[in-house]
Amino acid sequence: MTPSPRIALVTGGLGGIGRAICARLAADGCRVVAADLPPDAARLTAFADDPATRQVTVLALDVGDFDACAAAVADVEARHGRLDILVNAAGITRDATLRKMSRAQWDDVLRIDLDGVFNLCRHAVEGMTARGFGRIVNISSVNGQTGQFGQTNYAAAKAGMHGFTMALARETARKGVTVNSISPGYIDTPMVRAMPDAIREGIAATIPVGRTGAPDDIARAVAFLAADEAGYITGANLPINGGLFMSF
Ligand code: CAA
Repeated sequence: MTPSPRIALVTGGLGGIGRAICARLAADGCRVVAADLPPDAARLTAFADDPATRQVTVLALDVGDFDACAAAVADVEARHGRLDILVNAAGITRDATLRKMSRAQWDDVLRIDLDGVFNLCRHAVEGMTARGFGRIVNISSVNGQTGQFGQTNYAAAKAGMHGFTMALARETARKGVTVNSISPGYIDTPMVRAMPDAIREGIAATIPVGRTGAPDDIARAVAFLAADEAGYITGANLPINGGLFMSF
């Protein structure tokens, strides 16, 4: 008998890294739902027409909205019977040095990048633990490990994600649910392309492998951590940064 496909929800699913994750999980046989802010028609059409994401369902969702996240998880569980894999890939930057940072720039980043992880996990974890299986992968950042000039908001949110990941991993470890984070370095996405050219090129020149990463460099690792066979990896952080930041 063919095993029924795993059901995956990927936030930021239409974004640079999220889209690659959707494509990879779909290629691996998962039934994938991409949650993202309501996309414009052109973006939606491009997603639906791409053979890599054609099978992926799109769900409009603001991950900063607690009640909307409850409804999104309930919707996936109602339509597909369960939610097995949650990938929190929604993230934004509002870069500014602290002395210039507005309250809104702080709030926006914390609301999407960190509250969003709480909002989805809070609602997803109940069903996962009840069913005895779950895979949660939180997409953090190298800049949550090292800090970055102009990113007190983003670095705080991305570092906070690690504490959250480890704490939740402990709570769910005996219930078949793993919780891990991935810390991408500079990946070729609209977010990184939006950086001032000189700063981006300066950072790229220091990456030991000699290039920025591809979204699929991250998606492959998500698929690895989301696999049924990855049940002994939990509370871990996987850095994927081309050697930009090495630690142990
Ligand atoms: N280290 C030390 N000093 C620096 C510096 C750095 N990296 N960058 C700039 N400075 C200095 C400048 O030389 C200048 O010095 P003086 O005042 O002595 O002239 C001063 O800091 C400028 O400070 P300002 O507050 O005026 O900075 P700004 O408004 O000109 O620009 C910024 C600030 C918008 C944050 C800009 O530096 C920037 O865009 N930096 C890039 C931040 C970054 O790396 N973002 C990553 C986005 S991608 C991502 O986040 C994905 C991921 O997960 C990896």
